[in-house]
Amino acid sequence: MTAKIAVLAGDGIGPEVVEQGLKVLEKTAQKFNLSLEFTPARVGGAAIDQEGTALPAATLQICQNSDAVFFGSVGGPQWEKLPPEQQPERAALLPLRQTFNLYANLRPAILFKQLKNASPLRADIIGEGFDLLILRELTSGIYFGQPKGRADDKAFDTLSYRVPEIVRIAKVAFAAARKRRKKVTSIDKANVLTTSVMWREVVVEVAKDYPDVALEHMYIDNAAMQLIKNPRQFDVVLCDNMFGDILSDEASMLTGSIGMLPSASLSDGNFGLYEPSGGSAPDIAGQNIANPIAQILSAALLCKYSLGRPDAHDTIFSAVNQVLDENYRTRDIMSAGCQEVSTSQMGELICGKI
Ligand code: NAI
Ligand code: MG
Repeated sequence: MTAKIAVLAGDGIGPEVVEQGLKVLEKTAQKFNLSLEFTPARVGGAAIDQEGTALPAATLQICQNSDAVFFGSVGGPQWEKLPPEQQPERAALLPLRQTFNLYANLRPAILFKQLKNASPLRADIIGEGFDLLILRELTSGIYFGQPKGRADDKAFDTLSYRVPEIVRIAKVAFAAARKRRKKVTSIDKANVLTTSVMWREVVVEVAKDYPDVALEHMYIDNAAMQLIKNPRQFDVVLCDNMFGDILSDEASMLTGSIGMLPSASLSDGNFGLYEPSGGSAPDIAGQNIANPIAQILSAALLCKYSLGRPDAHDTIFSAVNQVLDENYRTRDIMSAGCQEVSTSQMGELICGKI
């Protein structure tokens, strides 16, 4: 059976890194005899320029006819003058997440042992590296809550959650932890926020079905600190939409670069959207220096979750590991004694190991 993959490269470094991700997917498909069909579609600023809207109907249609979306990134300074609701992120990414009910955002933050020097953390804190999974609720919370608005000198957003929205993301967290080190840290601000009090109650309730998984609760401000103090204490970190957004960027930096951090946005079935955790990086776009590894590891997640091929996922991870072992680095993770390579060279090198 052919798996259909919508390719939404977007803006900035999006097209550069997506090209490398596609090379890797094609190579992986050859190796594992997978039949993949790629359909490119416009999104973000590129779509605004060509079609006047960040998420054209044709693009949405292509996604709807696909088994997975391979997404680059959207946005950039040239579209920041548009009204907020027309800007690439709000007008493309949020509706995509909502349309496909992609409520579970998985962001593995892994410090590859070869990049210990790229991490800002001290060697004694890093130890042999860390491997944590940030699980971010993606379709509710303050990013979607109504009402939001402005009036006179006031602006407001609404933070709200419903019990079923917390139940389903918590289940994903516990199920994931079960296959890992069996620990969930649930992040909230229950000392201040009413939504957090309910979040905590619901997570405790869900935990009863997973007695083999340890549960702890942590306030967001403390979590921000603990992540730097001792990232190895964490296994699965369960967050609401905004806390997860912030903590995952923080975690990414501990891994050496945001250019290393992939993500998968999933719903209940096999459909998923796969994108690097970073943005369009306008400051380095068009220079062939961006790190494509986050995009390439997102391709690995696509193999695992949408194609049901953990073997292909593992092969891509291992290819990345081998290239890092050989001391090839893009500029963002460069350190002494290593060889700097471009975006496309990094893509080629990783393909060569598959
Ligand atoms: P950003 O992630 O694009 O950039 C932050 C810093 O990380 C920059 O210095 C950039 O050069 C660096 N960086 C990011 N990805 C990299 C990579 N693969 N290799 C090497 N360095 C990398 O975040 P920023 O600057 O806040 O946003 C830039 C634009 O991206 C904005 O228009 C923003 O709205 C958009 N954005 C889009 C997202 C998406 O499409 N999912 C997510 C976050 C931001
Ligand atoms: Mg973010």
